[in-house]
Amino acid sequence: MTRIKIKSGSLSGAKRALPRHRDMFIVYDRNVVLHEAKAFGKSPAMAIDADEEHKTMDTVMAICRWLMSMGAGRDSLLVAMGGGVTTDLAGFAACIYKRGIRYVNIPTTLLSMVDAGIGGKTGVNVDSYKNMVGIIRQPELTYICPETLSSLPARELRSGAAELLKTFIIKDDGNYQKAVEALSGTPDLTALAPLVKAAAEVKAAIVRRDEFETGKRRLLNLGHTYAHAIEWWEHSHGVADPCTHGEAVAIGIVKAAEESEKRGICPAGLAAKFRADFALCGLPTEIPCPEEELLPAIRQDKKAEEGKLNFVFIRRVGDVVIKRI
Ligand code: GLY
Repeated sequence: MTRIKIKSGSLSGAKRALPRHRDMFIVYDRNVVLHEAKAFGKSPAMAIDADEEHKTMDTVMAICRWLMSMGAGRDSLLVAMGGGVTTDLAGFAACIYKRGIRYVNIPTTLLSMVDAGIGGKTGVNVDSYKNMVGIIRQPELTYICPETLSSLPARELRSGAAELLKTFIIKDDGNYQKAVEALSGTPDLTALAPLVKAAAEVKAAIVRRDEFETGKRRLLNLGHTYAHAIEWWEHSHGVADPCTHGEAVAIGIVKAAEESEKRGICPAGLAAKFRADFALCGLPTEIPCPEEELLPAIRQDKKAEEGKLNFVFIRRVGDVVIKRI
């Protein structure tokens, strides 16, 4: 089983939680508030522009050149602090610098705490194709500091909320309803903190058993077939205020529930329940274009095999199933 380590604690305790190291280098999202980026005292730190446009080999090479200039060796530790773009970029640099050095993720967005910062997927975009080049290699540790959520913009929190809810639709243990309550209206960050850790553990448990996504890890793609198609459609139509990834996932989950109802995989009413729950959490639930316009992207899904999609259907909250369609 793949070794995946997750800890949760305060930012001030992060340094003590790190694995033993000779020296350490921090790569952080320029938007991470300064006191958070300074949690590691005097360690050398490099700020990056952590957006999709800069999620390229150029940025990875800039990190590698910086590590070289700072004299980082094979026994150095790289700490990636930020959202999913930061952990993907810094993690990829760590995977290839001197043929691989150890790295730790400190996710500072809800989305990266429950998804991107766990499971070892690293990589970059190529032209307009997302995550086309990358490696799966596990961080030494993912250290979650829920306190960083208090400075996260509301829309980004909601984007992560969709991945959190997705996780509990895959494996519930009573957490789905608690998450809806914590996220309704003004999110209750105190109630959210243990749910973040629980969702991170659900993802870790799945990845431990299927690191390279040949089986159960595909369950984590719930809602993503439509989400990726919506993101592609909005990008190719130059939509001025496109959905965040999480917003697209929320719509994708509703679609997955509708498709499950159509095939008799779940009882009628599940899609309506998700619509109501997600609306309470400030998430959209309607496709922003005529549905048939998403079909080209759905057919191109990079996770399709032999012309068939591995689509994740929902039987009920806490019970999902993959079917080839
Ligand atoms: N974001 C889905 C995965 O890591 O497999």
